[in-house]
Amino acid sequence: MLTEDEVRSSLIVALDCDKEYALELLGLLSGKARWVKVGMTLFYREGPALIQEFRDRGFSVFLDLKLHDIPFQVEGAAYSAALSGADIISLHALGSSKMIESARKGVERAHEEMGCDAKLVAISVLTSMDAQALSEIGIEHSVANEVDRLGALAAAHGAHGMVCSAFEAHRMREIFGDKGLIVVPGVRPKGEACQDQARVATPQFALSQGASKLVIGRPITQAEHPGDAFETIVEDICSAS
Ligand code: C5P
Repeated sequence: MLTEDEVRSSLIVALDCDKEYALELLGLLSGKARWVKVGMTLFYREGPALIQEFRDRGFSVFLDLKLHDIPFQVEGAAYSAALSGADIISLHALGSSKMIESARKGVERAHEEMGCDAKLVAISVLTSMDAQALSEIGIEHSVANEVDRLGALAAAHGAHGMVCSAFEAHRMREIFGDKGLIVVPGVRPKGEACQDQARVATPQFALSQGASKLVIGRPITQAEHPGDAFETIVEDICSAS
């Protein structure tokens, strides 16, 4: 059973919007949320300065740039991302063993040189993808098998954890163990629209499957009252656990 404090620390609000609205959201979520996620929409316009600004306002930051390039480039990208002050950084497990190891090297270099403490999580199969989407790119086995395969690869080559849907979280927890960082997007409170997400589950289910962190964007950021939407999610989780 999670305490209210642990529930708040498990929720990451995805700020997929412009800077102006992101700052307004921080105001509305202040004292309620602890984590925010900066993805490509925000980062490509605002750059690393925004990460520090969010941290100065007391939020931990998941920098979700989903790195995927040759090992040399990814080592440099992970190093730069860690220097920005991000607490969690994502990369695609599909980049394979050498790329994952290089990312870990980059993160460790930032730690040795500047004391930065970023954790690396590997994306398995995007929560917007289903078996048919996998088939389009030539992967004919099940989503669960693909996530399993990529989870084992990422764990063996230096990732601190995995990004997966709630349906694979239990298995990823087995692979990464108690200390693994299992991050679950595609989270929707009961009755909310799935939008472009395909493998969707409730916050309660995701946590029951061993998720360490839940990423929730539009159900909060596009709500009429984002602060209230966040609080309702916290209350629902607390009353179910
Ligand atoms: O608005 P919504 O809750 O669908 O946002 C989910 C967030 O999680 C997005 O910012 C998206 O980039 C991210 N994400 C995801 N699936 C993954 C990894 C990250 O949806 N596998």
